[in-house]
Amino acid sequence: MSSQQMKVLVVGGGGREHALCWKLAQSPLVLEVICAPGNAGTASVARNVAVAADDLAGLEELALAEGVGLVVVGPELPLCLGLADRLRERDLAVFGPGADGARLEGSKAFAKDVLLRHRIPTAGSKEFYRSGDAKNYAESWETWPAVIKADGLAAGKGVFICDNAQEAQAAIDIVMEEKRLGAAGERILFEEFVDGEELSVMAITDGDTLLVLDAVQDHKQVGEGDTGPNTGGMGVYSPVPQIHKRLIKQIEQRIMVPTLHALSREGIAFRGVIYAGLMITDGGPQVLEYNVRFGDPEAQALVRRFKGDLFPYLLAVAEGRLADLEAPEWDNRTVVGVVAAAAGYPGDYVKGTLIEGLAAADKHEDVVVFHAGTRAEDGHVVTAGGRVLCVTALGQEREAARAGAYEAMGEIRWDGMFTRGDIGMREAARAELIGDEDGEDGEDANGAGGYGAGGPEGEAELGERWTEGTAPHADLNA
Ligand code: AMP
Ligand code: GLY
Repeated sequence: MSSQQMKVLVVGGGGREHALCWKLAQSPLVLEVICAPGNAGTASVARNVAVAADDLAGLEELALAEGVGLVVVGPELPLCLGLADRLRERDLAVFGPGADGARLEGSKAFAKDVLLRHRIPTAGSKEFYRSGDAKNYAESWETWPAVIKADGLAAGKGVFICDNAQEAQAAIDIVMEEKRLGAAGERILFEEFVDGEELSVMAITDGDTLLVLDAVQDHKQVGEGDTGPNTGGMGVYSPVPQIHKRLIKQIEQRIMVPTLHALSREGIAFRGVIYAGLMITDGGPQVLEYNVRFGDPEAQALVRRFKGDLFPYLLAVAEGRLADLEAPEWDNRTVVGVVAAAAGYPGDYVKGTLIEGLAAADKHEDVVVFHAGTRAEDGHVVTAGGRVLCVTALGQEREAARAGAYEAMGEIRWDGMFTRGDIGMREAARAELIGDEDGEDGEDANGAGGYGAGGPEGEAELGERWTEGTAPHADLNA
């Protein structure tokens, strides 16, 4: 066995990367997990090496010097910068798309273009390079609200929901005149507002075979009851019982498989995660955005429920042989993950504050604390980011998992720490919205993750079948 063991390099230093390191370190096939740059949490399951996630040359050198058998790229930035291409040129196996595929997340205009050309359901949208043109368009727009989006990577700060032309003009000023998002705002999209229930679905793919992962619900807004500004995510739960198999099937057929086909027709060999941010409307699911990596904190929930060894799946994606693997099993229990953040987040926040109670929290049964923005300093752990950690707990029912997570969180404290108290509670409110439209009652989506159709042949048919209902806003895209 040991001759087959290999080293794995995980790139990144947040909660998602701690979760991936934690899971991969349990694999009998993994000799050692190296994390670059990692955080105080990854240090307990991996060897941290101080190379930044956007230091492409440094990461290449590290991967080659260590002789790693697999590189798992956590965040979007190195993917957009072409890290995976660079490593593949050196014959390294990489989990994560090349720069071409990463544009699905790196450029909203590119993603929209792909969506529309391949008739994948999405909101109508028009792109602008000049603020004057965008403002004139806003002036003539009639159906408010509308959405202004910066094209590039903006760490969740690039989307503005505007109720009228004045608000749209203010958003356009922020992005294009004041350039508060830098180059990410050189181009904007003016997009139709889509009403419905938000949901994201992740799949891993080697470009031919798609494995849709069990559903995870994020809580994006900073305040309880989904109020206040958007964050990277304040908490998660999984599974999501109100999402019925039928809806998952619909998402797979109308969104995920057509996306895979679109990529293949674009000539993009995509190996990694397709994360579809969706709005479930009366007319079915529509894509709001793509990400090209695991969600954070969605990954923290996924690794707690993924039964068995994750490593062979990530390696198979990197090596293009996902079809050889059986679909994984998911823990029947519910996981709830609660994020603790530093005062001020998602705005400015203080770093370097001492965190206490981590060990006590970790001792709680069925609890794992994943670090995000933490750093080791003189034998202590201090805050080093806005989202500081995520406490995950498993329970037979969601209420038990919720109680477990909040009890363990009660052990942890630092000056300025805050959490949302309502993680996992929104399910009751949304039951009607995304319930099973055909009354297949009671059957939930637990374990619904499975393989979607593979090669381009099957896809063409699906693509055609779902042409209607796509591009419902042809006026915008004419
Ligand atoms: P995105 O980064 O594109 O996911 O946008 C961030 C958030 O803005 C989403 O999670 C939605 O809540 C919201 N959003 C984005 N696009 C739209 C849209 N076309 N209609 C309604 N809400 C949207
Ligand atoms: N939690 C949302 C994201 O990772 O984009």
